[in-house]
Amino acid sequence: MCGIVGYCGNRDAAGILVEGLKRLEYRGYDSSGISVGFENNLTLIKKKGKINNLKAAVPSDMPGNYGIGHTRWATHGEVNDINAHPHMDASGKLAIVHNGIIENYMSIRNKLIKEGVEFTSETDSEVIVHLISKYYEGDLEKALKTALKHLKGTYGIVAVHANEPCRLVGARNGSPLVLGIGDGEMFLASDVTAMIAYTKQVVYMEDGDIVVVDKDGFRTTDLRDNELDKEISTVGWDIGEIEKDGYPTFMEKEIFEQPESVLRGMKGRLDFEQGTAKLGGLNMSSRELRMVNRVIILAAGTSSYAAMVCAYLLEKVARIPASAELSSEIRYKNPIVEPGTLYFVVSQSGETADTLYAMRELKRKGATVLGICNVVGSTIPRESDGGVYIHSGPEIAVASTKAFTSQLTAMYLFTLIMARMRDMSTQQGQMIVESLAKVPEQIATVLEQNMNIKTIADKYAHCHSFFFLGRGLTYPIALEGALKLKEISYIHAEGYTAGELKHGPIALINEETPSVFLVPDDGLREKIISNMKEVKARKGPIIAVAVEGDTEVADIADDTIFIPKANELMYPFLMVVALQMYAHHTAVKLDRNVDQPRNLAKSVTVE
Ligand code: G6P
Repeated sequence: MCGIVGYCGNRDAAGILVEGLKRLEYRGYDSSGISVGFENNLTLIKKKGKINNLKAAVPSDMPGNYGIGHTRWATHGEVNDINAHPHMDASGKLAIVHNGIIENYMSIRNKLIKEGVEFTSETDSEVIVHLISKYYEGDLEKALKTALKHLKGTYGIVAVHANEPCRLVGARNGSPLVLGIGDGEMFLASDVTAMIAYTKQVVYMEDGDIVVVDKDGFRTTDLRDNELDKEISTVGWDIGEIEKDGYPTFMEKEIFEQPESVLRGMKGRLDFEQGTAKLGGLNMSSRELRMVNRVIILAAGTSSYAAMVCAYLLEKVARIPASAELSSEIRYKNPIVEPGTLYFVVSQSGETADTLYAMRELKRKGATVLGICNVVGSTIPRESDGGVYIHSGPEIAVASTKAFTSQLTAMYLFTLIMARMRDMSTQQGQMIVESLAKVPEQIATVLEQNMNIKTIADKYAHCHSFFFLGRGLTYPIALEGALKLKEISYIHAEGYTAGELKHGPIALINEETPSVFLVPDDGLREKIISNMKEVKARKGPIIAVAVEGDTEVADIADDTIFIPKANELMYPFLMVVALQMYAHHTAVKLDRNVDQPRNLAKSVTVE
């Protein structure tokens, strides 16, 4: 979703801002712009479409050593140059960029219009610049603070004023903002990817923080002018991790990273001897964990399917009642928080508004909420009672892949801990630990199927509709397979539990509608084979994801992707990787923008 970058220092700001915006592209956007300050003047350039349009409009020798930039993901007002940020006041001296939504913008706008202010855009954000301008009397920080008192909604804002050259003023409430501390230069951005090329020293702003940045220092206060002491953190990864590294797309790179990312998520956390796991950040004693009698996991998008797998697993393996809920639903259900229930929120970005607000609602009702997140320092892990970082490394492609398998890893470890605290034997625990330790290698074996998967994906890429079918632990994987295909190839796809097919969806089966069946070699195999036959009888093409050596399944299917034989609990890891590759190849064949699919955003910070 929208991205912010701000710079002040000694270098040419334009190049740094455009490059920073390029790094934020992955968040999802539809227009971009910069405003660069040279002494006491600001220049504004905004363009609809890709950053390259903006780049082409920015003169290579543009002077100016401070400024702000923005990638916009439209909410209020259509996608065009005018609605793009930054927004300027009538004097042309003040410019702002904004992420989030100003809920009371209409009443402020009408009031300002009555006072004679002329609006140029249809955005909610433009009210911010005119309000600051109204209160500006030579002190940008003061004017911003006064303006904020009138705003309702969420924001990450950075403002510059040409009368205060080389100074940025930022504010955060609900939309992320990070300060980067360089050598004689400073950055403000929505996330560290925009500044990692220049510094690893960062300060994560929190809701209510106001930050004033000059090239040699920064000062943080709250809205009432109380000084705040902020902790400086060091980013634990390098710029190389957000480069494509020879792969044509970030998504392909991230799919292929999974043997290492899953391994990283387990490192130091498996206890082979006791047949259990260690998760340091849960912040719960063994006694407290033993008192948990229900687990509810909430998440959105791909993370919600990881949550579903884990709810199945917790019931199956640890025998604890568990369920997965969509964040956007649970928040407004007036959820009943009972003692003994432990909540997990799963979020790659740690910023998803639906999940964050649901978490806050649960905490308000007294719930203990643990986070399973990837982005270190993001809002969800900071506000949760504890949790697990999945350590999958930066995920740049909008469609989530490696974060999914790392989320599974974290939840499998948690399940193991819970199971071993209850009635699972050491032996059984050891068996699961050993099976988990084999997963990275088994994923590598699935990746070797790349060319076979490409051939199958190419064969069916012309089809307009797909079914993905699984049962039990692989049902959420079917849902995720369908989501991946629709997200990046724009082909209609539905995930179903194979048992439900006959209760309606089978009406849609014909020669042009392929069904992708997930067939593990567990107790449900025979049932799934029957479901495959039902489709076959109606001439529906079948693509099976089956266990190596399962010739019976391969004989029924038109095409088969084999995964290695594994402990039956581990098939979600292996099957999802096959489906990620399938979706990726289909999207490439159809010439889609794999990393930045239309209309989607990586970090969805609005409800
Ligand atoms: C967006 C992304 C999805 C992601 C979902 C949840 O919709 O496009 O890929 O699964 O948000 O994101 P989270 O960061 O909370 O896991």
